[in-house]
Amino acid sequence: MSITLDNISKSFGSQALFSEVSVTFNPGNRYGLTGPNGAGKSTLLRIIMGMIEPNSGAISLPERVGMLKQNIEAFRDMIVLDVVIMGNSRLWDALKERDRLYELEITDEIGMQLGDLEEIIAHEDGYMADANAEELLVGAGIPAELHGQKMSTLPTDMQFRALLCQALFGNPQALLLDEPTNHLDLDSIGWLEEFFHNYTGTLIVVSHDRHFLNSVTTHIADIDYDTVIVYPGNYDQMLVTKTSVHEKGESEARSKEKKISQLKEFVAKFSAGTRASQVQSRLREIERLQPQELKKSNIQRPYIRFIPTEKPSGKIVCKLDKVSKSYDDLQIIKDLSFEIHRGDKIGVIGNNGRGKTTLLKMVVGALAPDSGAIEGGHQVITSYFPQDHSEIISKEDKDNCFDWLRARKAGLYDQDLRSALGKMLFGGDDAFKNVATLSGGETARLILAGMMLEDHNFIVLDEPNGHLDLEAVSALGWGLEEYKGTALVVSHDRGLINHFATKIIAFESDGIHFFDGNLDNYLMSRA
Ligand SMILES: Nc1ncnc2c1ncn2[C@@H]1O[C@H](COP(=O)(O)OP(=O)(O)OP(=O)(O)O)[C@@H](O)[C@H]1O
Ligand SMILES: [Mg+2]
Repeated sequence: MSITLDNISKSFGSQALFSEVSVTFNPGNRYGLTGPNGAGKSTLLRIIMGMIEPNSGAISLPERVGMLKQNIEAFRDMIVLDVVIMGNSRLWDALKERDRLYELEITDEIGMQLGDLEEIIAHEDGYMADANAEELLVGAGIPAELHGQKMSTLPTDMQFRALLCQALFGNPQALLLDEPTNHLDLDSIGWLEEFFHNYTGTLIVVSHDRHFLNSVTTHIADIDYDTVIVYPGNYDQMLVTKTSVHEKGESEARSKEKKISQLKEFVAKFSAGTRASQVQSRLREIERLQPQELKKSNIQRPYIRFIPTEKPSGKIVCKLDKVSKSYDDLQIIKDLSFEIHRGDKIGVIGNNGRGKTTLLKMVVGALAPDSGAIEGGHQVITSYFPQDHSEIISKEDKDNCFDWLRARKAGLYDQDLRSALGKMLFGGDDAFKNVATLSGGETARLILAGMMLEDHNFIVLDEPNGHLDLEAVSALGWGLEEYKGTALVVSHDRGLINHFATKIIAFESDGIHFFDGNLDNYLMSRA
């Protein structure tokens, strides 16, 4: 059974995301849901799931729909197996309620309630829940000994796979995924692509990863021009069609305008004269030709420039001497020694779980090593972009963007704030959006706006491109290339690393490698 949207409109305050959208998503097809940051992709998925109400319109969808959650952090303290079973919320709620009631003294009334709950549990195949969840986890490559552990003890890509199992729990007829590749390294992305190719239900996946979209999707549903348009084919094919449709619209509009101005000329010349009927017919023609206003595309590029403080840092920015770090029994970094020098532009690459974030946190002083020494250089001022945005913008935060940004640095003028916000595409009223309502990409843009205003001569970014759209990633590449200070950046995006990095730190299976040169040269040297 397909998913059908009938005349769906959604706006927040004065901001209209899309209006009167009618589209159908069919089983067997794999739809990429695309559009720039803040276009409304996550919102549309939530509308389909019934988690938020549209302003108007109706949705019909199959009985069982699974959704992959974007917020891996929210599950940190939960047990892996439970996280999977939560995928069926009716069952999960019934199980929890049953456990709660068994704690109480069993009265007749409670006995009745328990009976009702047992019925729900049986109907939802609850007695097989553990076995089914285990089977899914093993299929996703998570061994049985991890099923009873807390999510936070698993490497990020494993946590992600557990969330995917959650979405798949109960064998859904449709699967919705919001940016599934953000937490994944290339190996896991390959695994996911393969998985998608074998899925037979209706698949809708949000992503900013062009390569991934191209390899996975059969259709693209693009949010732009206030609506959703479904194009057959993958992402690159969509871009070609979209541009040619738009150019055709523009050239038609231009030729209409030309025609209108000729007609107007005629009218002006003869309106006072004897050719009244001809003038009348020209006027009607003008009316008919009046171009419908072409909707502007929502694709925009931010402008990213990081300005270092006037006082440069010393020649050595950071020095690590025999640094080691373990989590419980797992040694992540062993006897690591190296120096970061002023002006270095370092790209850090490598699979998940190898310690890139751990290294960055130690370099910025947020985490202490178990042994060895880390020495910051003379007059180094650091600005840090954490992988987990909630470390600096929390979802409980009540601030608006403007106030949040003002708190980043003392003595800023309103116009400085406005200008930084404008460069990061928070124009007009958007500057006063509540930070808790920002989309993933908008949150990343706001953090970058903060870094543009802060004092620094050393910037450290941990997967800054995770949520960013293609325009923003390319703007970031320019910003990093132009930066006159020192930069240390973790990313899985080859294009981004190649844009700015002149040195590479690679976390490989055979250890950590240091390379003087850009990423392409490093990869060639490995091949
Ligand atoms: N509760 C809310 N109140 C006000 N505005 C909201 C609310 N929720 C979302 N928005 C706004 O709606 C827009 C769409 O948000 P959404 O999260 O759907 O974007 P998205 O396309 O998923 O973006 P991204 O690519 O960055 O994830 C954003 O501008 C966001 O700030
Ligand atoms: Mg989103």
